[in-house]
Amino acid sequence: MAEAPRPSEALNSVLVENRVFPPPAEFSRRAHIGSMEDYRRLWDEAAKDPEAYWGARAREELYWKEPFQTVLDWKPPHARWFVEGRTNLAYNCLDRHLPQRQDKTAIIFEGEPGDRRKVTYGELSRQVNRLANGLRSLGVKKGDRVGIYLPMVPEAAVAMLACARIGAVHSVVFGGFSAEALQERMNDAGAKVLLTADGGWRKGAVVPLLANVRKALPNMKGVEHAVVLQRTTQGALSLEGKERSWSELVDAQSDTCEPEWVESEHPLFILYTSGSTGKPKGVLHTTGGYSVFASLSTRWVFDLKEEDVYWCTADVGWVTGHSYLVYGPLMNGVTSVIFEGALTHPNADRCWELIAREKISILYTAPTAIRAFMRLGDDLPRKHDMSSLRLLGSVGEPINPEAWMWYRDVIGGARCPVVDTWWQTETGGIMLSPLPGATPTKPGSATLPLPGIHTEVLDKQGNPVGANEGGQLFITRPWPSMLRTVYGDPQRYVNTYFSELPGKYFTGDGARRDEDGYFWLMGRVDDVVNVAGHRLGTAEVESALVSHKSVAEAAVVGRPDELKGTGLVAFVTLKKGVGHSPELKKELATHVGKEIGAIARPDEIRFAEGLPKTRSGKIMRRLLRDVASGKQTTGDTTTLEDLNVLAALRSDED
Ligand code: WTA
Repeated sequence: MAEAPRPSEALNSVLVENRVFPPPAEFSRRAHIGSMEDYRRLWDEAAKDPEAYWGARAREELYWKEPFQTVLDWKPPHARWFVEGRTNLAYNCLDRHLPQRQDKTAIIFEGEPGDRRKVTYGELSRQVNRLANGLRSLGVKKGDRVGIYLPMVPEAAVAMLACARIGAVHSVVFGGFSAEALQERMNDAGAKVLLTADGGWRKGAVVPLLANVRKALPNMKGVEHAVVLQRTTQGALSLEGKERSWSELVDAQSDTCEPEWVESEHPLFILYTSGSTGKPKGVLHTTGGYSVFASLSTRWVFDLKEEDVYWCTADVGWVTGHSYLVYGPLMNGVTSVIFEGALTHPNADRCWELIAREKISILYTAPTAIRAFMRLGDDLPRKHDMSSLRLLGSVGEPINPEAWMWYRDVIGGARCPVVDTWWQTETGGIMLSPLPGATPTKPGSATLPLPGIHTEVLDKQGNPVGANEGGQLFITRPWPSMLRTVYGDPQRYVNTYFSELPGKYFTGDGARRDEDGYFWLMGRVDDVVNVAGHRLGTAEVESALVSHKSVAEAAVVGRPDELKGTGLVAFVTLKKGVGHSPELKKELATHVGKEIGAIARPDEIRFAEGLPKTRSGKIMRRLLRDVASGKQTTGDTTTLEDLNVLAALRSDED
């Protein structure tokens, strides 16, 4: 196939994209899955006899202390996988490797201020065991929930693994979330212990983790201990009340810790994620199925080899940080990078320098970062020798073909396959992605499902749509790493994911398939937005806004943003007698930051006299989306009359 031309504006629409890049022959020759024939053979095998297929994969991927007899128990919409098996994820990530990889680097840590550390598999295992013993000494038992609110330091991985080792259920809260958001999640999870730090570094400033914890602690009645790691302060930490020193806790412990051999369906973690309504959902994943799929999908999608140095830039607070920063790479025994802070701080070429210095071979990041790098220009990456790179991955939001091409050409030197991976917190692992040695790629397409995964684009009645027609993306058969429930709210699990079409998992994403059967994601069809790769529910931002004393009503919608993918626009009506002012807009943005976190601050706040509603009182969001994206311009202040006129024109659509 001829080399494609450099992208032009006209080619930047996913609707007209028609370039195809077959995998480089040399890459395919060495790949785990090296041809489309191999891919299809596996896919067909899995489709024909799913239980035989998954049973074989589960035995290959994990060490099972007790074998399983039942591969799948499926009572729609509830699945149990590898039912009788017993295993331990920390054992599979660490102990299993020690005979051959004791001295191999597991984690290369790069702190924002420039501090560096390499942690071997042997050392990581000792740290995990010490903390696991420390948690046990605090009374944490199998099944207890432990909160994790840490910066991007190796101890974040240690914390997760220590919980897994003793069968405690971890719930990681992104360090960028506020005290209120932390408190809400910890209370919902019923966390008994919170693992945290004094702070973390971001763009030269300290993220005030301990200050947030102190604000939240009085309202987190179930939390008995907050264990504090020292990261950003000097001298002795002065701790109060329920706070304990991390170093004192682990120093007193032994290096060995008997793992808790848990049932396959024992809960592994709860991770809160945004939905279209109400408060965040605690997505629950269990041990066996999640582990099998995280291990297998990491090796296949990233074509991992013993000598790879793998860098996933996601924060541990998101699902990508769980499956593809911590668990997947460690189960495969590779060396991976944990990076703290912003990718462009203190220098705009910080990450290219890191790739060159550590000879990183696989990079997995988000389109929003790629677009930010693009803006900074080609010179920065070109200054560095990035010939160590052999594979590039993208995740979190649709990647526009222009960014895809830039990633491939400028970062990957036109020699590295690009894998655009589609998945969700709920799916636990990658569902749609090229296999880099097999799948010809098209810029902007997540291509095809992994073997064993059944995705379909369906209309509202559940019928498949034609080629290139838009519809909703469903996963039509159970898979090992699917979420098991919404923690504490089993009905919400059924309502959210299995009520559109019985027995079929509804993703909330729109998609189409092209004439080759490739999937093209078209964004959310519900009121969830992806802002700079962070998933947010517009309802959450709305409820943060209306909790402010001046606000009567709020509607938040997404609008396309060149850099962040989606930006947030809030339409706000004020209480009687409250005047509009730029200061109030600022105050409201700050208020949202305090209620949720900086990532949720609206890009624009518009005051309105009223919000357009249907006769039944539903806010006409589609209309507001049009107004927000400038399709209907009404100036800075959207008045009731303006919106009413528009509403009248468009009332048939909502
Ligand atoms: C979006 C992140 C297009 C999608 C792993 C999904 C994507 C939501 C892609 C899940 C992709 C993720 N192409 N869209 N490659 N990857 N998404 O739970 O809308 O934070 O439903 O999981 O991100 O976000 P979450």
